[in-house]
Amino acid sequence: MDQKQLKQAVDKRRTFAIISHPDAGKTTITEQLLLFGGVVRSAGTVKAKKSGNFAKSDWMEIEKKRGISVTSSVMQFDYDGKRVIILDTPGHEDFSEDTYRTLMAVDSAVMVIDSAKGIEPQTKKLFQICKMRGIPIFTFINKLDRDGREPLDLIAELEEVLGIEGYAMNWPIGMGKGFKGIYDIFNNRIELYRSEAEGESFLELDDNGEIKGDHPLKQESIYQQVLEEIELVKGAGSTFDEAKIAQGKLTPVFFGSALTNFGVKTFLDAYLQFAPKPAAHKTEAGDLVEPDAPEFAGFVFKIQANMNPNHRDRIAFVRICSGEFERGMDVTLERTGKKLRLSNSTQFMADAREIVETAVAGDIIGLYDTGNFQIGDTIYTGKKAVKFEKLPQFTPELFVHVRAKNVMKQKSFHKGIEQLVQEGAVQLYQSYSTGDYILGAVGQLQFEVFQFRMANEYNSEVVMEPMGRKIARWIDPEQLDEKMSSSRNLLVKDRQGNPLFLFENEFSERWFKDKYPDVKLTAKL
Ligand code: G4P
Repeated sequence: MDQKQLKQAVDKRRTFAIISHPDAGKTTITEQLLLFGGVVRSAGTVKAKKSGNFAKSDWMEIEKKRGISVTSSVMQFDYDGKRVIILDTPGHEDFSEDTYRTLMAVDSAVMVIDSAKGIEPQTKKLFQICKMRGIPIFTFINKLDRDGREPLDLIAELEEVLGIEGYAMNWPIGMGKGFKGIYDIFNNRIELYRSEAEGESFLELDDNGEIKGDHPLKQESIYQQVLEEIELVKGAGSTFDEAKIAQGKLTPVFFGSALTNFGVKTFLDAYLQFAPKPAAHKTEAGDLVEPDAPEFAGFVFKIQANMNPNHRDRIAFVRICSGEFERGMDVTLERTGKKLRLSNSTQFMADAREIVETAVAGDIIGLYDTGNFQIGDTIYTGKKAVKFEKLPQFTPELFVHVRAKNVMKQKSFHKGIEQLVQEGAVQLYQSYSTGDYILGAVGQLQFEVFQFRMANEYNSEVVMEPMGRKIARWIDPEQLDEKMSSSRNLLVKDRQGNPLFLFENEFSERWFKDKYPDVKLTAKL
């Protein structure tokens, strides 16, 4: 590709993460979007969950069992001249760290909210993570075919709880059994609710925003009510501001019903109009790597072992930030300075994977990994070394002792722990005094997934003894005296051998600080 072709290819990319709390409809929307892209030919795979036929984006056994997604997956399709790349995120807040890493690899986010539930505590946490990243956020309020909360309420809550302005791109006309459609403020039309078989149906609006000509809807009280609400929203609500959207300060809000595929296309069309193309990425040195820069550079934001249990493979997910990826190319792995040949690479189409020959900024590729990569690694071509900004690590708050149930099976136990820790599924520590293994996590479910995957993927039953909530604080090795360790502040080392204390509670941390006023403790390394 020459420079012009590269730029054209990059400008077509729209890479986003889809976030929601479990059950809001993230999977259903994703399925519908894939359908528009012609990727999945039959809808309703989500609905078939109960019959044991799962949504294509759900891979793992545990996800099927619990009906939540605990890993992120990647899907892509072409639509309206654009290449749309969707990164699914785990809905559960216990996997916020995974979600955050995924958000580092995208240029915008789509937040799905259940209209009956509004902003749930989990949505709030996920959203805060989204906000920390400062990328545009688009909101889809789902399940309008069911009775939910008042739209004015929902937008007010969004603004209040999440601290972001909401701009209604459309407005629901009724809900539940009385759902008539959406008043599309942005496109100045009404989209009538209909069964899928009936196809799309729009009503034109006149200059006053009223339905042109005669239509039975005009006689219904809900219609008048919606006109009043829209007056209110237009008068008192936020104004549409592209700059604010780009900064993540204003979220365009769409209403719809993913299950009946209503409002999803309208959403997708508007989304593609305003979603940003791949942005420049910052290096640790503070330079910006432009997406159409000629040299290839990208970073690993996720590692996933055993995505396909039959193949026992391990895949490093790479977000391309600049240049052109070509299969078989040689790159430098920044962390080690080693050269690697990228011959075994893949792209993701729902559950299918295709060998990828070329890719550009915005694309996500999967590299089959034999243990070369770690989360956060930068790979690049060219003479000048590139190192992208560090991916943030959340400090674990929950800890368990862990050991193999069967002492004869140490080998599989160690292999499993090593691989799952490299994935970032849990953090591993070792007690200074006894050498015992300790796992740390942000949320309890991470341990459950770990235990399940150890048994399932590594044939290693593990015993976990909860240690409860602890405060992890790193200490400068120069200042460390092993005698400082006690039952209230257990001394452990992390995977890199750095010493840290696990404090029982804030009180014990304060007590320690009083006793050793010169010792510096840090929450993160
Ligand atoms: P998630 O990925 O965010 O966890 O949600 P998912 O898409 O799996 O949807 C959760 C449930 O909500 C599914 O029901 C799905 O069919 C339903 N759902 C999604 N969108 C809509 C919508 O627009 N309207 C209605 N009425 N339902 C919707 P399920 O798997 O059958 O489980 P359940 O119905 O027993 O809870």
